Amino acid sequence: MKKLGVGVLGVGEMGRRHAENIRRLVPEARLLAVADVAADRARQVANDLEIDHAFSSLNEMLEHRDIDAVIIATPDKFHAKAIEAAAAARKDILCEKPLATNRADGERAMRAVTQAGVRLQIGFMRRYDPGYDAAMKRIEAGEIGEPVMFKSLGRDKDVPPIEAYRANINGMLFYNNTIHDFDLARWLMQDEVIEVQAYTTVAIRPELAQFGDVVASSVNLKYRHGAIGNVESNVQAIYGYDVRTEVVGSKASIFVGSLEKTPATFVSAAGGSRSLCDHFFSRFGDAYVAEMRDFVHNMLHDRPPRVTGEDGMRALEIAIAAEESHRQAGAPQRCTAEHVELLGATSAQA
Ligand SMILES: NC(=O)c1ccc[n+]([C@@H]2O[C@H](COP(=O)([O-])OP(=O)(O)OC[C@H]3O[C@@H](n4cnc5c(N)ncnc54)[C@H](O)[C@@H]3O)[C@@H](O)[C@H]2O)c1
Repeated sequence: MKKLGVGVLGVGEMGRRHAENIRRLVPEARLLAVADVAADRARQVANDLEIDHAFSSLNEMLEHRDIDAVIIATPDKFHAKAIEAAAAARKDILCEKPLATNRADGERAMRAVTQAGVRLQIGFMRRYDPGYDAAMKRIEAGEIGEPVMFKSLGRDKDVPPIEAYRANINGMLFYNNTIHDFDLARWLMQDEVIEVQAYTTVAIRPELAQFGDVVASSVNLKYRHGAIGNVESNVQAIYGYDVRTEVVGSKASIFVGSLEKTPATFVSAAGGSRSLCDHFFSRFGDAYVAEMRDFVHNMLHDRPPRVTGEDGMRALEIAIAAEESHRQAGAPQRCTAEHVELLGATSAQA
């Protein structure tokens, strides 16, 4: 059986998990190499996973001729350039979210993918979570009728260390965190967001203001076909890793995440009246495996990816509008996908 030759770029927390999944849990793939600017880390991961090749740059890894696809898990601001390089080398790509942290980079990456005729998937793994997957199947079957309201929240347990903000290599909250909910906001509602209004706070972490970042946000959404929505993010919820979503429809509604009869639930850093997830690996561990298996299977069988570069670009557009609204103290911002359409052929058509 032919296997897809895969290289992983960036083997920090997320990239290492992808590399482990490919090595152990994706029978259709063969992990051939890892690369990381931290050469020692790349070597360590290669040793741990018993593979031959560890590189200190993407370009070196791209010279490995048996690599068919590259997984990009570097910090956010390096995604677009890595996509361009991998596309130029004619590799298919699974890139972690976000596609980019600004429009120009995102568009350049998309063009590179289109011109090279390779395929690009973006790491919106929640689409592979059994809960979200089941919700989508019911929505597609028309069971909720017309979607009217979208509500999603994503709360992390602990704020990243201040050095992570100082390094300035990831996008602010909207690009690094809320973007998952922005993707769900389009996907589950089967509609495009046309207006965004963002309220933000640095309360409890005023030092984040100097980095142009925030600790929490509440973003209102208006949709092309009249529906409305709201997305809440918080990077320091203390009690756990909490992701929940609701789609309220004309005939029925769907809730992903827990919904209990208990009218009040107490939660703190010490736990509480429920058993809690504390990390995205415990909440979405299965989704990362399903995501990788699906990507590998589609690449191997010459099919388009399920989550496209265009999905990445459209979620990025919502994040850009949210950042603009945040900078203008909550003034509503138009969010059009027009120029995404103008990009012409997309990665989905490759
Ligand atoms: N889908 C998800 O749920 C999810 C979860 C966590 C992280 N992520 C995304 O994954 C990416 C990585 O996040 P992380 O938490 O693993 O970060 P991390 O800091 O733990 O790891 C990043 C790794 O990339 C390496 N690196 C940095 N610049 C590089 C370059 N130019 N070339 C090669 N390697 C480079 C670093 O040395 C490090 O090993 C981010 O974009 C993040 O948004 C996604």
